Amino acid sequence: MEVFKTIKSLQQSLSLKDDHLTLGLVPTMGALHEGHLSIVRRAKEENNLVVVSIFVNPTQFDKKEDLINYPSTIDADLEALESLGCDYVFTPTVEEVYQGDTRSEAFSFDGLDSVMEGKHRQGHFDGVATIVKKLFQITKPDKAYFGEKDYQQLLIIKKMVDLESIPIVIVPVQIYREIDGLAMSSRNTRLTENQRNAAPEIYQTLLKSKKIFNNNDLDSVKSFVKNEFIQNKDLQLEYFEVADTESLRIATEILPHKKYRGFIAVFAGSIRLIDNIALN
Ligand code: PAF
Repeated sequence: MEVFKTIKSLQQSLSLKDDHLTLGLVPTMGALHEGHLSIVRRAKEENNLVVVSIFVNPTQFDKKEDLINYPSTIDADLEALESLGCDYVFTPTVEEVYQGDTRSEAFSFDGLDSVMEGKHRQGHFDGVATIVKKLFQITKPDKAYFGEKDYQQLLIIKKMVDLESIPIVIVPVQIYREIDGLAMSSRNTRLTENQRNAAPEIYQTLLKSKKIFNNNDLDSVKSFVKNEFIQNKDLQLEYFEVADTESLRIATEILPHKKYRGFIAVFAGSIRLIDNIALN
């Protein structure tokens, strides 16, 4: 496994590979957990070579404190990636990637960014699309892998690739969960013992909401989820939305031929946890 800090050295090494060998990219912000590793395994299965980027992207954080507190476990990350047979790791500095202009490009995502995470985190998706586009331009992979935990991000990246006519296949990877159902996230390590014990409630609520969705109306699902968190002293519901799986338009009624997903964001103290589920 080779580790690169500069674009030039990574590109030099990538240019030496045979043209017929396929390259898979797994973009990450580090602090790797089993969820990331399952994505890297999938990329290894489907490509001859795999590059993982580890870069905490400043332009996608709307709160400075989140950026400062973002966990970093670089030695453990590199050890885990080596053991999975990852071929290249890219760990650039902010200066290397943004060349002194640490700003997002402005994209037009056709409403995909005006709901849920986009509504609650100003500028977040322009920041995500900006860095992912840069990583695509730098590494030029055949396929790039993104977890479905950040489902809205996944659709935004697909949209960006369409808008920019970038010839890369975007591969969604299923949410990887702890045994108790909590979606894996680098933020889980910051939970207190009480918060960690309470957190599986998020997925349990999504599972129950799916049952209710299939037997009742939209309002029943929404009020069920709201009520589940009212008494909870460790978890505060920020939002629960039912949205069209493709357009992410918030559902106001359920149409029989459409597919819907439930999206949730919950605060455990200052730590924000998100999850989602296919409802039908
Ligand atoms: O999902 C993430 O970890 C980040 O948003 C990504 C895609 C690596 C871009 O910084």
